[in-house]
Amino acid sequence: MSSAPKTEVRPAPRDDAGSGDGAAAKQTLTVTDNRTGSSYELPITDGTVRALDLRQIKTAEADFGLMAYDPAFMNTASCRSAITYIDGDAGVLQHRGYPIEQLCEHSTYLEVAYLIINGELPSRAQLENWVHEITVHTFVHENVKDFMQGFRYDANPMGMLVASVGALSTFYPDANQIHDEQVRQIQIIRLLAKMPTLAAFAFRHNMGQPYVYPDNELEYAGNFLSMMYKMTELKYEPDPRLARALDVLFILHADHEQNASTSAVRSVGSTQVDPYTAVAAGVAALYGPLHGGANEAALRMLGRIGKVENIPSFLDGVKAGKERLMGFGHRVYKNYDPRARIIRKHLDAVFEVRGRSPLLDVAVELEKQALADDYFTSRKLYPNVDFYSGLIYEALGLPVAMFPVMFAIGRTSGWIAQWLEMVGDAEQKIARPRQIYTGDRDRDYVPLAQRD
Ligand code: CMC
Repeated sequence: MSSAPKTEVRPAPRDDAGSGDGAAAKQTLTVTDNRTGSSYELPITDGTVRALDLRQIKTAEADFGLMAYDPAFMNTASCRSAITYIDGDAGVLQHRGYPIEQLCEHSTYLEVAYLIINGELPSRAQLENWVHEITVHTFVHENVKDFMQGFRYDANPMGMLVASVGALSTFYPDANQIHDEQVRQIQIIRLLAKMPTLAAFAFRHNMGQPYVYPDNELEYAGNFLSMMYKMTELKYEPDPRLARALDVLFILHADHEQNASTSAVRSVGSTQVDPYTAVAAGVAALYGPLHGGANEAALRMLGRIGKVENIPSFLDGVKAGKERLMGFGHRVYKNYDPRARIIRKHLDAVFEVRGRSPLLDVAVELEKQALADDYFTSRKLYPNVDFYSGLIYEALGLPVAMFPVMFAIGRTSGWIAQWLEMVGDAEQKIARPRQIYTGDRDRDYVPLAQRD
């Protein structure tokens, strides 16, 4: 092996490590390739080194260069983003710098969507215009309704949503002009406006009930409830407590940085496809039980436990590794998920309207006992957003198949904001991970007749 690093190499002085004097510390990383004895100094920016900087580390000129191997992107930042900040150790979630608690207390989902997408809270006039634009775009083309009716009678609403959001691109073919700001703007409005309509149509289809057209006199969440539950009455009057709880749920799901579905939207969007198709990829990723389905699992778990008396034996089973405490633990949050706390607060308002679920007592006591148990605290396992969201969705009268659909409605604003940020980011290119090839090479084809 010859040693021929392209970039200059110099041994790093020990005090460059900078552990003593933070202010004077050099923002670089020095690595020594023990295969060649060469050292390389890589810049550190925002706590990261560039994976591409590793490429200069070679054993020979013809060598491809070093790559980073990171299945599931456990430690790789794929973008720079100014949308959502999470401090998992402290249990902090902020959108554009505003704490989630304040947004849920004072804002509406559409205002938060504006904030997330545009970067600033809107003025009164901007908000009125934004809400008006979204409200007047809630209807879908009649053909959309027709093809949704073609799904099997018991089709999963999430599968219907994946297909119908993607199909919107065929109704708005100019949506592929993603570098035209005006064209982008109208697709953003349409996506936010039509997502609840598609979701409610999918629900009604699944229930074998006629689809209900949007009521543009109602607010976003109230209109959604109307499309979901209106029967023979001339006008559906949503209960303001239910509409507010739903609006807060949409806010809570609006964005959560580079999760699986958002990464899917960015990855598919990086091909410069239209935003309907990119968002359909996000919905598809959310369909998976590890992403959009944990609240269903949490609800089923509470049902299985059934009574407060059964909690200790259930927890013994969890500690013995027989199963997981669903709705507990998070890859990022190593503290109480702030979204769980907010949902917990809104449960009472929903139960006031719909009647109290007996499973709430089980959930509250389960949380209490788990948080008093060293098994959970030592592993930093706290309730996450899914611990209570299933209970609230169930109280709203939703079947479990609709839980991820509700998630998708709220997350649409985040997907759009992340897609926009990507489109405007000069550093982004078509997403194309590398691989470590582990298969055979250079084999000669064996004709069929000569194979056993
Ligand atoms: N119940 C019991 N033990 C658990 C749980 C749990 N829910 N979660 C983690 N652990 C244990 C795990 O067994 C491991 O123990 P040990 O060190 O003895 O092997 C330790 O805690 C670390 O767990 P991990 O699997 O390495 O943690 P992770 O970051 O890979 O997993 C998680 C995160 C969310 C997949 C996991 O906590 C889990 O499966 N939770 C239950 C499912 C759930 O509620 N998912 C919803 C997540 S929030 C959705 C969202 O934000 O979009």
